[in-house]
Amino acid sequence: MSDGYVWFEGIPFPVVDCTPEHLRAMQDFVFKDEDVLTVSFPKSGTNWLVEILCLIYSKGDPTWVQSVPIWERSPWVENTHGYQILKDKEGPRLITSHVPIHLFPKSIFKSKTKVIYLIRNPRDILVSGYFFWIISKFVKRPESLEQYFEWFTQGYETLGNWAQYVNAWMLEGQENVLIVSYEELKQDTRSVVQKICRFLGKKLEPEELNSLLKHSSFQVMKENKMSNYTLLRGWLIEDKNGSLMRKGISGDWKNHLTVAQAEVFDRIFCEKMAGLPPELFPWE
Ligand code: A3P
Repeated sequence: MSDGYVWFEGIPFPVVDCTPEHLRAMQDFVFKDEDVLTVSFPKSGTNWLVEILCLIYSKGDPTWVQSVPIWERSPWVENTHGYQILKDKEGPRLITSHVPIHLFPKSIFKSKTKVIYLIRNPRDILVSGYFFWIISKFVKRPESLEQYFEWFTQGYETLGNWAQYVNAWMLEGQENVLIVSYEELKQDTRSVVQKICRFLGKKLEPEELNSLLKHSSFQVMKENKMSNYTLLRGWLIEDKNGSLMRKGISGDWKNHLTVAQAEVFDRIFCEKMAGLPPELFPWE
């Protein structure tokens, strides 16, 4: 680590529980057909989707999400502790990752693991990232939103360049992939959860679905110390009020980016995403 990141194959990883040696060893991780992998660029709403998956698997019963930290329910394969939990676990596993596809364990391409790929308006990812990284102790901290804007648009950012990252997962992604956007989840959580259940071959009774919607809502997750990252205060999160749960809305970028910044952003990113179907990106 030199500048607040763990660098591996030219990609900056958060320093938390991650080393180049582990990222190399992780290549031998064996995905099983019954696993479910959540993959996303950081700040896309990953933990929300994980909470939903946990509640699908517990059939809406909140006991699990209220008693076990979210990173142990669906561990990060790139973290040494998460990797160990996953390796020792019998039966179907929920797995989370931000690893770019070209550095991902290759067994994923041979397995029938179900992959849910979460995307989000990158302008909102930028704003969400800025407010989270300035209270975090495990990545390089920007001094201002202007500075972070520069980093983000130049691709000097946790996990590298957003457009390259998303493009690579979209274009080279294997079969058994469901793409879900933060925006559609916000707009109609119930329908998207039902779509995820169909993809996973899971069925929830109406009251189980209602319980899932309640316990994965922004307000309830915000109060749940097993999901809101407040357990990390003083260790990985600096601020004594710091939480993962900031605003939980779509379009907050309009409150933070200038018109000129939005134009620069569009020029850079629209061009880079031009090869992908526009319906994959349902945001303004
Ligand atoms: P904001 O900072 O825009 O509020 P990740 O889990 O990938 O780090 O993403 C964090 C973002 O997801 C934060 O966005 C957080 O508020 C949002 N989020 C988490 N749980 C949510 C929920 N239940 N509903 C809506 N947004 C949620």
